[in-house]
Amino acid sequence: MTAPKKLFIKTYGCQMNVYDSERMAEALGGQGYTEAKSADEADMILLNTCHIREKAAEKVYSELGRFKKLKAQKPDLKIGVAGCVAQAEGQEIMRRQPLVDLVVGPQSYHRLPEMEEKAREGEKVLDTDFPEEDKFEKLKRRPKSKRGPTAFLTVQEGCDKFCAFCVVPYTRGAEVSRPADRILTEARDLVERGVREITLLGQNVNAYHGAGANGDLTLAQLIWELDKVEGLERIRFTTSHPNDMMDDLIEAHGTCKKLMPYLHLPVQAGSDKILKRMNRSHTAESYLRLIERIRAARPDILISGDFIVGFPEETEADFQATLDLVEEVKYGTAYSFKYSTRPGTPAAERPQVDPVEADDRLQRLQALLTRQQREIQDSMVGREVGVLFEKPGRQAGQMLGKSDYLHAVHVADCDRQAGDLARVRIVSSRTNSLAGELID
Ligand code: SAH
Ligand code: SF4
Ligand code: F3S
Repeated sequence: MTAPKKLFIKTYGCQMNVYDSERMAEALGGQGYTEAKSADEADMILLNTCHIREKAAEKVYSELGRFKKLKAQKPDLKIGVAGCVAQAEGQEIMRRQPLVDLVVGPQSYHRLPEMEEKAREGEKVLDTDFPEEDKFEKLKRRPKSKRGPTAFLTVQEGCDKFCAFCVVPYTRGAEVSRPADRILTEARDLVERGVREITLLGQNVNAYHGAGANGDLTLAQLIWELDKVEGLERIRFTTSHPNDMMDDLIEAHGTCKKLMPYLHLPVQAGSDKILKRMNRSHTAESYLRLIERIRAARPDILISGDFIVGFPEETEADFQATLDLVEEVKYGTAYSFKYSTRPGTPAAERPQVDPVEADDRLQRLQALLTRQQREIQDSMVGREVGVLFEKPGRQAGQMLGKSDYLHAVHVADCDRQAGDLARVRIVSSRTNSLAGELID
């Protein structure tokens, strides 16, 4: 038996890291670790990091610097770095920050228990392999404890697309899909523990092609299998690539009741010249026609996107093309970023846009996206939507949840519990949420 110890994990980056942090906590649960409320009370601190933009990566080093004092007070404290920065800069982290005991890449965290033991014995351990074995299979089944009504479930990892700006193909490796039966088993376990909504995760989730009993399943076929899981009420998936948006998946948006009317479909830019240089292998026009087909299948679907401004050699005219595309699509939510040079990616070598100009474009794009987002949110007033309640609000009797379209909704004088689904009429729209009332 190992003595009880406390683990503190800080998570950066995408939803996949959120999922990985849960699984790492479970893996270390077998070593006697329970969750610490803060870094101060931890015996082990893990930073689950993101390498997508320079700022995200640099944050890791400043965060580590802050643990110096803590480690001086508590020499037994172990500090680990996991995730995409660990993968990209493992050796460098060990060199730059001697207080780090352990570095584990995103494909190796099933080996954490052994690594933790070595670290306890005073060794410095680093594992950033892309092993052949399936890390999820090596991890023990998830514990049966009760949990909240929503959960992430990774079904696909890695990326073979190699967009010219992006580190993901290097930090997460080649595209791999998990077999369908393991996903279904995990989904049933989650539902038994109280989960009502599952978001299927993958860097390229719609490229999913996991093994099933009769050959590989598409993402749509996997969704239809999950549709049969009793007690599971809602299914979502993210992130999709426009080129993998297959007919059966578009159709499922019109026919599968559990599949929610929300789609995150990043386009990155509206100029064909820039899209080509980004190696996106789709055009603005093909993206717009795709959105049309998706809306034909599910007219009320809420579209979400990602954009990069100031990509190398982006001119004002190229940027205008992005604004034009946004005007045409009308996004319900969107994330926009200033291009960040990532070492080792093809775009890093190209002539950069003046940063002041890039800042200005980002502000103009964000102003347009914010306006669209607000208009779509406001258009919900008067409508009836499904809401899955997640937790009580700050005011007595208030419950908070998410609508089918992923808008935050609060309902006053609400007699429902977390995990209940209800029909709600939207009565008003505020900056980042909607207010509603129960219909029955
Ligand atoms: N796999 C997803 C998401 C990848 S990362 C996809 O293909 O869409 C999430 C977002 O970060 C990207 O969609 C992109 O908009 C942004 N991003 C990626 N690399 C970036 C970089 N070097 N600079 C700025 N933004 C970047
Ligand atoms: Fe990165 Fe492009 Fe792959 Fe998305 S599709 S993870 S942006 S390389
Ligand atoms: Fe960041 Fe890695 Fe996700 S780089 S966005 S944590 S895949």
